[in-house]
Amino acid sequence: MAVLVTGGAGYIGSVTVELLVERGERVVVLDNLGRGHRAAVPAGVPFYCGDVGDRELVARLVRDHGVQACVHFAALAYVSESVEQPARYYVNNAAQGMILLETLLAAGVRRFVFSSTCAVYGEPETVPIPEEHPRRPANPYGWSKYFLEQALESCDRAYSLRFVALRYFNAAGATERCGEDHDPETHLIPNVLAAALGRLPSVPVFGDDYPTHDGTAVRDYIHVSDLADAHLRALAWLRQGGHSLFLNLGNGKGYSVLEVIRTARAVTGREIPMHWQPRRPGDPAHLVADARRARLLLGWQPQYPELASIIESAWRWRLAHPDGYPKDSAR
Ligand SMILES: NC(=O)c1ccc[n+]([C@@H]2O[C@H](COP(=O)([O-])OP(=O)(O)OC[C@H]3O[C@@H](n4cnc5c(N)ncnc54)[C@H](O)[C@@H]3O)[C@@H](O)[C@H]2O)c1
Repeated sequence: MAVLVTGGAGYIGSVTVELLVERGERVVVLDNLGRGHRAAVPAGVPFYCGDVGDRELVARLVRDHGVQACVHFAALAYVSESVEQPARYYVNNAAQGMILLETLLAAGVRRFVFSSTCAVYGEPETVPIPEEHPRRPANPYGWSKYFLEQALESCDRAYSLRFVALRYFNAAGATERCGEDHDPETHLIPNVLAAALGRLPSVPVFGDDYPTHDGTAVRDYIHVSDLADAHLRALAWLRQGGHSLFLNLGNGKGYSVLEVIRTARAVTGREIPMHWQPRRPGDPAHLVADARRARLLLGWQPQYPELASIIESAWRWRLAHPDGYPKDSAR
């Protein structure tokens, strides 16, 4: 009775694997290491380097490990990259995701937790954004995720697949062992901390003319450990026979880019230089979650709702790992 975690060598996946192992779950990780780190997967967890679209590999590891459920993190996840390389995003996220789903269903796996995103909403009509908000993705990344959401709904009806699609807002923070280490890094908080460490000369701030209180984009930052906890609750929901769900995961409070930089200056005691850049294509002004449904149905209660505590945890990890994870030798 194992849980397959795809993308388990990535940022949010590795923290979730850590928590699953802590709770005594049997876990198998599948990751192609395109963006992940072998060192992020805890020792002793079976690890397979490969694509989620590899039918033979997925069927074999499901059989060999008695996989009963899948938590699917594996994806390419940069909005601006998806605007420049849409075909790559549709193939990796939508087409490969669909093959994974088909292979799991053929093997009898009917519980699926999916990393979706607030990018499925596009430019919001109302903030905070409830799950019923129209889905009008503003970029290929959002569309690639929305495609899989639609596929999950169809498979629920046709094959009794039961899923929880978790629409995260902005993941941030770290545990003692796992942190955010992407190359290239497009996320704000790791870049702000890289600038605090002197590893980045200055933080680019994209857009000063958004219709927000200070002109910079507002996001809802959620601690990666709180996200991981929601995945375990989603699995428990499915195991208890719960129906399929779409759930937002966020703190319900937005911070602008300038507020994040100010808070990081206070946390780190460092200067953190910044410079202005034009808006990035596909970036909405204001993304804040209405996550009451996750609290109500899963009993989910974020433990680190304060931006300063989220940044503090990321800063501790950065100081302990100034070069990030060791570079993978065995891909
Ligand atoms: N980070 C965020 O703020 C955020 C917000 C909303 C949604 N998400 C979603 O959460 C998930 C995890 O995000 P993350 O920030 O940890 O990203 P990440 O890049 O750190 O992790 C993704 C992992 O998936 C692997 N991967 C990608 N495509 C693969 C494939 N075809 N086969 C096998 N492995 C593959 C990568 O190597 C990487 O280790 C993604 O699906 C992302 O879209 C993230």
